[in-house]
Amino acid sequence: MTQDELKTLVGQAAVQYVPAGAIVGVGTGSTVNKFIDALAAIKDRIRGAVSSSVASTERLKALGIPVLEACEVESLPVYIDGADEVDPRGNMIKGGGAALTREKIVADLAERFICIADESKLVEVMGRFPLPVEVIPMAAVQVARRLKAQYGGEATLRAGCVTDNGCHILDVRGLKITDPAAMEADISQWPGVVTVGIFARNKASVCLLGTSEGVRTLTF
Ligand code: A5P
Repeated sequence: MTQDELKTLVGQAAVQYVPAGAIVGVGTGSTVNKFIDALAAIKDRIRGAVSSSVASTERLKALGIPVLEACEVESLPVYIDGADEVDPRGNMIKGGGAALTREKIVADLAERFICIADESKLVEVMGRFPLPVEVIPMAAVQVARRLKAQYGGEATLRAGCVTDNGCHILDVRGLKITDPAAMEADISQWPGVVTVGIFARNKASVCLLGTSEGVRTLTF
């Protein structure tokens, strides 16, 4: 099976986690695009979606799925999104598509995070994928220096990238994220950091992994 087919498989499998009448949290990325396509087939059975990016909002609307603002809902039964890496405890690295801040905001509204990914994203220890950190532009150099001093990470500015929030992304290489919760809590409070792409506080409840044998379900 191609990677695209694996993404389609998990995108379709995620639909079963959407309760009837729900407003569903929708992430961003190529795997979520498959989920949005599958969601369109049951759009009459849901009330709408809260989206984590301009790109997902446009796709949802184009398929006739109503999009609500995050401030219009108090909670969501479920948030469905991809990941760049996921560890055996359901912690994730996200932000490869630069939408990490809105993703964390919408994920935080949800009772359950359903992660959809192909099995290549499952790793024992996260850090091989460069960790995205969204920063206020004037703090980029300062935060990069601190990432090096405290964690030995090499941060580079993502070229040509301005997020939906008008900020920049540092991609940090050379990390071994053995304690995701502690690293997330630490980096999140540095001046100039908008969001770190570690999702430990908002980790996955369920991960649907696309494999050549079908969908593998991990529950945390
Ligand atoms: C977007 O910022 C990311 O968090 C994506 O969810 C992540 O990069 C996974 O994207 P793909 O499904 O395209 O691999």
